[in-house]
Amino acid sequence: MRILVTGGTGYIGSHTCVQLLEQGDEVVIVDNLSNSKESVVSAIEKITGKRPVFYRADILDREALDTIFYTHKIDAVIHFAGLKAVGESVAKPLEYYHNNITGTLTLLDVMREHGCFKIVFSSSATVYGTPASVPIREDFPTGGTTNPYGTTKLYLERILSDLYVSDKRWSVVLLRYFNPIGAHESCLIGDNPNGIPNNLMPYVTRVAKGTLPKLCIYGNDYPTHDGTGVRDFIHVEDLAAGHIAVVNKMADSGVKVYNLGTGVGYSVLDLVQAFERSTGIKIPYEITDRRPGDIAECWSDPAKAERELGWRAKHTLEEMCRSAWNFEKAN
Ligand code: NAD
Ligand code: UFG
Repeated sequence: MRILVTGGTGYIGSHTCVQLLEQGDEVVIVDNLSNSKESVVSAIEKITGKRPVFYRADILDREALDTIFYTHKIDAVIHFAGLKAVGESVAKPLEYYHNNITGTLTLLDVMREHGCFKIVFSSSATVYGTPASVPIREDFPTGGTTNPYGTTKLYLERILSDLYVSDKRWSVVLLRYFNPIGAHESCLIGDNPNGIPNNLMPYVTRVAKGTLPKLCIYGNDYPTHDGTGVRDFIHVEDLAAGHIAVVNKMADSGVKVYNLGTGVGYSVLDLVQAFERSTGIKIPYEITDRRPGDIAECWSDPAKAERELGWRAKHTLEEMCRSAWNFEKAN
């Protein structure tokens, strides 16, 4: 298949491009490089021996998308492109709604014009808001998002579902990711946020490296086994493999929703201890106040993806920690 990967030079997109190329798909990437670097294209080539076609373009740029669809006969789109910083989205709601929602509307309109009706969308566990219980199943209610970033995911899920209702030629897969961490074993691609990281794992690896003095753990008074927040950390390689399973089994028509997680919740302290065990490096930390908007526990029931796609996450928490650390050291 020839697959257009929006946001393909980003963290999850680049790992997915590698696996698509490895299984023989043709890959066309469109990315405006707002949160990634063009050197990722060469890294993908170095890993796979194949160079994906790359367009530095914005998904808001209708003409650019039109040219891409005109030049390449695209069979399906995996749509990663989007802004993803939760805190920034609170400060810049217009920018987030415009980029994520208007960008996706533009993409969908151009897809329709060119007769391409298959799309896999990067959604997030954030659409479940504060879940009534864990593990979270796909049929749990969505809503109650606490920031504009999460709300863009919620609205886009709705928009994509409405599109199918209007025209049964669409095949839509909504993938709700839990917490991806780790990197490709080559250490050529990984999560490399600019500035001070917001997410836990890149913060931990920078403390391990000595770039940051200590980790702040946001609260130890949650109703969890050790009081710190519990999340479903998933190796980015497993997450990428989930996309491959989806693409290979994509129906001709319909809307499907899958959780991509491991089904196991680990606390912030569990992760810190696993990191220390697997790398031998001590992580100094301090317990601080809760971070506004955080929830106590968020972990998946991934049974539907296993049942319908034959996919399940394989990597252990220790493997994820080692992989994240190897990438940090190499970069
Ligand atoms: P990322 O920032 O590394 O990758 C996103 C890519 O999209 C970047 O390369 C960026 O330059 C590009 N991009 C952004 N806006 C664009 C635009 N208008 N036109 C073209 N390119 C644009 O993020 P990621 O972690 O790889 O996330 C990929 C997707 O998965 C995002 O939609 C994100 O919201 C979603 N997601 C991520 C996580 C996570 O924890 N990483 C969790 C749940 C969902
Ligand atoms: N945490 C700390 N210290 C830090 C960073 C995080 O204690 O420096 C804690 C948080 O309080 C939380 C846990 O680590 O309990 C995980 O936090 P992250 O910021 O790494 O991840 P979140 O679960 O908050 O959110 C992530 C993505 C969202 C996505 C969500 C989906 O950032 O975009 O996963 O599950 F929607």
